[in-house]
Amino acid sequence: MAVVSLVLLVFFGLHWYQHGTQAQDAVAQSKTWTPPRILLVSALFPLQNSKHSHEEYRTWLANFLGPKGIQCDVYFYTTPVLEELVRSLHASSGRNHTLVINTTYATPFAVPPITPHWARYIQMHDWDRERDIHNPELYAIWNAKPWLLEQAVQHLRRGFNDSEGVTYDYAFWNDAGSFRDVHAFGAWPDPKRVEEVFETASKAARVRKEDMFFVPFWKAPEERDRSWTADKGPVDNDIGEGSFFGSTPTGISWYTRAYYAQHDFYISTAPSPSPPGPPFHFVGKDQTLINALMFRHPERFFGVLGPRRAGELTPPPSSVGSWVAALLRTPPIPSLRVRWSSGGSHRQWDGGERSRYAGGADGSCWGGLGAEKGVRKQVL
Ligand SMILES: *[C@@H]1O[C@H](CO)[C@@H](O)[C@H](O)[C@H]1NC(C)=O
Ligand SMILES: *[C@@H]1O[C@H](CO)[C@@H](O)[C@H](O)[C@H]1NC(C)=O
Ligand SMILES: *[C@@H]1O[C@H](CO)[C@@H](O)[C@H](O)[C@H]1NC(C)=O
Repeated sequence: MAVVSLVLLVFFGLHWYQHGTQAQDAVAQSKTWTPPRILLVSALFPLQNSKHSHEEYRTWLANFLGPKGIQCDVYFYTTPVLEELVRSLHASSGRNHTLVINTTYATPFAVPPITPHWARYIQMHDWDRERDIHNPELYAIWNAKPWLLEQAVQHLRRGFNDSEGVTYDYAFWNDAGSFRDVHAFGAWPDPKRVEEVFETASKAARVRKEDMFFVPFWKAPEERDRSWTADKGPVDNDIGEGSFFGSTPTGISWYTRAYYAQHDFYISTAPSPSPPGPPFHFVGKDQTLINALMFRHPERFFGVLGPRRAGELTPPPSSVGSWVAALLRTPPIPSLRVRWSSGGSHRQWDGGERSRYAGGADGSCWGGLGAEKGVRKQVL
């Protein structure tokens, strides 16, 4: 997770442009361009069996919201006990971006789309192959994220108390524990970069910008994923990441609807062949639901691939700007009409549009990110 966060910081945080790309030209030509308004949404609920200490969370939160944190409007869900900490970190930052804290939910199980499934979440833990490091509360917070993201956007659009409503152009979920290391990013994500990346992805996919959805990828899909069909249930592979994701308000609303429709379907239907397996699909890990959504709607998703995996993709033609190539669209699945071929340890996708999919333009650059330490140095 930490590695992916860093890649994201690099991806969205740097003015790291190639010359002559279309989206950039468009931005440059438009003298009246105003930066899009961006909202980050996050949460911190202390878990009973957290792997990490209170001190660790405090440090990470300080990297996010404190004096060395980022500049971006933030909507933050937490408990009344932690509210003061969050507020004081933000106050100490000396920054002027908005922080809205919502303490309505005492635990992630109180979040409406999760509440009805409480008993099943407990039950699921018994057949989680990673049960030693997971717990039902963790499932709940993971699956609450899309709803919390959408609600924050809508809440701020309506306005509250004496604040007028604000309509954001983009909003992203951002794990509160993502900023594990001290970083050098100010305005993050960089509004110009976000705009360019969405424009580019939209053109490549021929899908309206507001419908595109950004998800980072831990790795590319594997051979075994080729045979996936929706009736098989959530895709149990570390492909999409849940630590950071988002879109425009339109894209977020679509995603949230699709996410819970799928979640509710899988949690109420049994895998087939049915007995003697579990009585319903395992939905405890958001990654697996994200994967299934991407496989079902590949045209809407794009992202950036984790550094260690970049080598799995064939570099695109060098004429393609490196940051464009850093966009990775999800692989088309056979059932979705597009062929998928694999050669040796390298994977690529057919269709003559490889540049849209490839993650390692500068194989050198992303490849060089493999070492966790010194990542920023290499890229900066
Ligand atoms: C907030 O800070 C930024 C940069 O520090 C500055 O450009 C901007 O004008 C400030 N906005 C307000 C409302 O003070
Ligand atoms: C917190 O968010 C929820 C969901 O949007 C909303 O119903 C509630 O009113 C919010 N609480 C406050 C104090 O704004
Ligand atoms: C609005 O004001 C009430 C009363 O002061 C407060 O409890 C609530 O948290 C405020 N809402 C937000 C979103 O700040």
